[in-house]
Amino acid sequence: MVVKLNLIAAVCENGGIGHNGELPWRLKKELSYFSRMTKATEDASKKNAVVMGRKTWESIPVKMRPLPGRENIVLSRRVLDIPNNAATVCSSFASAVEALSSPPLCDTVESVWIIGGSSLYKEAMQSPLCHRIYLTRILKHYDCDVFLPDIPASFVRIKDSRVPEEKQEENDVEYYHEVYEKQEQVVDE
Ligand SMILES: NC(=O)c1ccc[n+]([C@@H]2O[C@H](COP(=O)([O-])OP(=O)(O)OC[C@H]3O[C@@H](n4cnc5c(N)ncnc54)[C@H](OP(=O)(O)O)[C@@H]3O)[C@@H](O)[C@H]2O)c1
Repeated sequence: MVVKLNLIAAVCENGGIGHNGELPWRLKKELSYFSRMTKATEDASKKNAVVMGRKTWESIPVKMRPLPGRENIVLSRRVLDIPNNAATVCSSFASAVEALSSPPLCDTVESVWIIGGSSLYKEAMQSPLCHRIYLTRILKHYDCDVFLPDIPASFVRIKDSRVPEEKQEENDVEYYHEVYEKQEQVVDE
C-alpha cells in the first residue's frame, strides 16, 4: 500500500512556527482543531499516525505524550530511548514511510499526518506522497526561531467540509484555517 501524507501546521504572519523549542503562542481552540483533525477516522477500528521530528516530540509536555489516540512516530538519526515504547522511532523519512506502508501499521493506520518541525515539513512537501496541507494562518507577528518552508506551487487552495472557513479568534488573536491540495500533473498529449 502507498500511503498518502497530510501535513498540518500553524504559522504566524512572519512565517514562524516555533520559538525556544515551543509554540510561540497559546491558542487552546487551535490545538483542539489540531487534535480533531489528526484523530478523525472514517473507520472506527483504525487510528491515524502522527509523524514528527525529535524536537517536536520533545516539545510536547511529558504528561501529554504520546499524543493520545494516534500512532506516534518520531524521526531521529540518534538512538532514542522512548520509555514504554510510547512512540515508534524511525531513522529517516523513507523508513517512516516504509513502516507505515508495511504490516502491522498499514493494517491499523488510516491517515498519516506530518506534524513538524521545519525540516520534516520540507521533506514531506517535496515528497510525491504529500497530498494535502492543512495550514492555520495566524494573523499576528511572533518572535520565532523555526520557520515554515515555502509551500510548493503545485499545491492549490481547496475547501474541506471539515474545516471552518470563517475567521477564528481567541485571546484577541485572529486566524484562518486553510487547506491546500497537490494538483495532479497534467500531461500534454
Ligand atoms: N506551529 C506548528 O505547527 C509547529 C509544528 C511542529 C513543531 N513546531 C515547533 O517547531 C519547533 C521544533 O521543530 P524543529 O524544526 O526545530 O525540529 P524537528 O523537525 O521537530 O526535529 C528536528 C530533529 O528531528 C530529526 N529529524 C528530522 N528530519 C529527519 C529525517 N529525515 N531523518 C531522521 N531524523 C530526522 C533529527 O533528530 P536528531 O537530532 O535526534 O537526529 C532533527 O534534529 C518547536 O519550537 C515546536 O514547538 C511548531
